[in-house]
Order: sequence, then structure tokens, then C-alpha cells
Amino acid sequence: MRYHARSSKHGLPDLGLSVIILAAGQGTRMRSDLPKVLQPLAGRPLLGHVIDTAEQLAADDICVVYGHGGEAVLSSFPNGGLRWVLQAEQLGTGHAMQQAMPNTPAENRVLVLFGDVPLLMAPTLRRLLDATPNDEVAVLTVDLDDPTGYGRILRNGDTVTGIVEQKDASSEEQAIREINTGVMVCPAGRLKDWLERIDNDNAQGEYYLTDAVAMAASDGVAVKGIKADSWVEVMGINDKKQLAEAERALQARLVEEHMTNGVGFADPARVDIRGTLTCGKDVFIDVNAVFEGIVTLGDGVRIESNNLIRDSQLGAGTLVHSNCHIEGATTGEGCEIGPFARMRPGAMLANNVKIGNFVEVKNSVIADGSKVNHLTYIGDTKIGTGVNVGAGTITCNYDGANKHKTTIGNDVFIGSGVNLVAPVEIGDGATIGAGSTITKAAPADQLTLERSKQVTIKGWKKPVKKA
Ligand code: UD1
Ligand code: MG
Repeated sequence: MRYHARSSKHGLPDLGLSVIILAAGQGTRMRSDLPKVLQPLAGRPLLGHVIDTAEQLAADDICVVYGHGGEAVLSSFPNGGLRWVLQAEQLGTGHAMQQAMPNTPAENRVLVLFGDVPLLMAPTLRRLLDATPNDEVAVLTVDLDDPTGYGRILRNGDTVTGIVEQKDASSEEQAIREINTGVMVCPAGRLKDWLERIDNDNAQGEYYLTDAVAMAASDGVAVKGIKADSWVEVMGINDKKQLAEAERALQARLVEEHMTNGVGFADPARVDIRGTLTCGKDVFIDVNAVFEGIVTLGDGVRIESNNLIRDSQLGAGTLVHSNCHIEGATTGEGCEIGPFARMRPGAMLANNVKIGNFVEVKNSVIADGSKVNHLTYIGDTKIGTGVNVGAGTITCNYDGANKHKTTIGNDVFIGSGVNLVAPVEIGDGATIGAGSTITKAAPADQLTLERSKQVTIKGWKKPVKKA
């Protein structure tokens, strides 16, 4: 559904909405080679959060003004649907808006968002749009105990008369605690005219979008200052300290949503969700769990302390003990992993599979009820049901040039310290003696072993330390 101001409320016809996101600035204060709007927040670029919010408004048009780090910014957002406009030189927020205006329909309303204000939520923007008649201007503001660095809101009662930037503000103006969040709504046609009249005669020598506010006021257009409910939602990110603050705030928001949906956390402050985490019922997550990419946890999954889980799906009742690194893995129901296990991409466990300590599994399928409990590497392998792989077993899958497959049937018992030199096949029900290096197929239901004869050297003497 397209977002339109409700005509019933103001008795004016519906206008279309153009969202313009300013994201061209360098972000000098980040002191980073990465453009500011690509700095990660909860695992995604700052700008990605803003685009997501804009998309929830179902505007006619979402335009992103980009500039600094141009190619990198463009290639981070390959999906269509957005209008990208280059601001080759970053001469200020007003200049950035000038770049976007030529293709913005004059009859639309414009909602300005900043690429460095990532925690804003769509309901706040809807509230702002709803409260603003089509032919008026509104800025989203907030009161701060320490407003240093932000543009201050100048008011005459309920009407905003202008915005003055920190560096241009008199000491009286600097004492004003109501600041500009950067979010603004205005009629596009009027804005085009104001932008043409903006100059750079100010402390920073920049074309300030904020100067449009005083122009609107002097043209007799009503300008409202609408206050945001919380500072956190509208905070602008300019440096690494603010980035870290925003990260904690967003994490708190995400964890709270999960707790509302019934997920248990040992400590809501000690978990990080950098992507999309989906949880079933009665999931419990202990401290220092980090989730990255798309992770799904089935009903009753338990994640013990200190785990990194990335792009994985864990089936109902799966238990992940402490200190595991799990990436690109899937498990069925009732699996147990760790402590200290590494699951790499393509690790696929069926139901009730057990992967114990210091075990690495990569690109391998392990069927129901099989166990790999200690100190083992399983790579490019298919393991049947009810198999027990002994401690210290290695699938030797790499010959220095190519990878090869190991196939292990059902109900196989592999003794400890076995090397399975791929390509190799172990038949159903086979037993492999401990310490064997298996290079040929081992038949079903037989004991196969490969060991040199054990000898004891008579009269052998322990070496002694030279004087
Ligand atoms: C701006 C506002 C200030 C407000 C603050 C809120 C102006 C003049 N000032 O200041 O009133 O309190 O945000 O966080 O608008 N950008 C461009 N092109 C440019 C310059 C900036 O696209 O030439 C983009 C940046 O990428 C950023 C946004 O505009 O996303 C704001 O720019 P920034 O330099 O961070 O402005 P502030 O000094 O924070
Ligand atoms: Mg800023």
C-alpha cells in the first residue's frame, strides 16, 4: 500500500511521497577507509537500516544520494527499486538535496532521511507524516541534555523559525537543547525553490539543507517541530563511539523483541544478533552467543555460552555446548554439538547426531544417531546411521590438488586414530581397527585393519643427557 497523508484529516488531496536518503558524506569523524554509511551496525551497513525503514513507508520513490566511496556504496546494494543519484562533490546537505530534486515530482511530498541515522523506525515517520498537512513543513526534533554538535531548533512558540548549526550558533543558541534530527518533510515544489536560494555563507562553507527551514518560515509556510519519543531512535552516527552506542541500543531492541516472543536469555546484554535470528518455542541462549547472517533455531534449542553461529539452521531440541564455531550448518532434531566443535559450511546432521569436542565437520552428511565424539576431522564425507567414529579419526580428503570423498555405511564402527584416505568406502556394519590407515574399500560386516607388526627391542637403553 502506498503511503499517503490522509486527506480526511487535513481536507487536502492525497500527495505522493518521495523519500530522499542523504548518504554521500565522507564521515571524516569515523577515521576509516570504509565510507560512513557502510560502517556495520548489527552486521549490516548503516544505510541498509535506513533503506529498510524507507521501504516500510511504501513511498512512490526512494532516492539515495551517494558520493563518497561511490562504487563501494553502489555495489553494497545490488537490488533494484531505488533511485541512486551521485553527488560527486560533497558540498553539504542542501547541495546533496539539489542533486536529487530534478527527478522528484514537484507535486509530491519529500521526506528527508539521513544515511547516518539508522535506528529510526517507520511508526515514528508515519506519525510525522500524519501530523503534517501536505503544504506544510515539519522537522523531527529531540531534546538532548548535551546537544553539542547538532543543529539547534529556533522557535517562536509552536512554530519553528529556523535551524542553526553548532558552528554558527551564538552562545545563547548553543544553550538550546532541542536539536534537529535531520528528518524533515516538505512539499517538493516549494523545496526546489528554497534549495535554489541556499548559499554557503556559513562557518563550514557548506550548503545547509537546514537553511530551507528559515526560508519556509519567512515565506509564511508553517513549520512544525515534532519531537521524537526517544533520543536513541534518532541518534546520528558520526564516530566510532556513537556507532558502538547505536550497536548496543539496537541489540537491546532486537533481544527485547525475542524475549517478547518467548526466547530466554541468561543475560540480554550479552548476546549479539548480526542478521536475522528466528527462534521457535522455549529456546534458551546463554551468555556471549553471537548470531550472524540468517540463523534459525527450532523449538527447545539450547545454546550454551560462547558460541558463534552463522548462517545455520538448528533443528528442534538441538543442544550446542560452550565454545563452538558453527557456520553454514544444518541439524535435524535432538543433535548435540561441542563443547569446542567446529561445523563448517555444508555440515549436515540428521536427527540425534552427536559431535563432540575438538571435532571439525565440513561438507559432510551424517545420518541419524551417529556419533563423532572426540578429536576428529570429517570432510567431504557421507556417514550412515548408527555409526561410531573413534577419537582421533581423520578423513584424508585432500591429496594436495583435489578433494576426494569418503563414504561410510550404516552401523559402522571406526576405531580410534584411523586415517581414511579418500576416495574410500567403508561397507555397512564394518569395523575398522584402531590405528589403521585405510586406503582401499573395507567390506561390510568384517573387521578390517592395517597395522605394522608390534615389536619390542630387547636390550634397548633410554638415552641419557650428555654431561
Ligand atoms: C546534520 C544537520 C544537523 C543535524 C544533524 C543530525 C545539516 C546542515 N546539519 O549535521 O542540523 O543536527 O545532521 O544528525 O543538515 N551528506 C551528503 N552530502 C553532503 C553532506 C552530507 O549526502 O555533502 C549526508 C551524510 O552522508 C549524512 C547526512 O547527510 O548521512 C548528514 O551529514 P553530516 O555531515 O553527518 O551532518 P551533521 O554535521 O551531522
Ligand atoms: Mg551526522
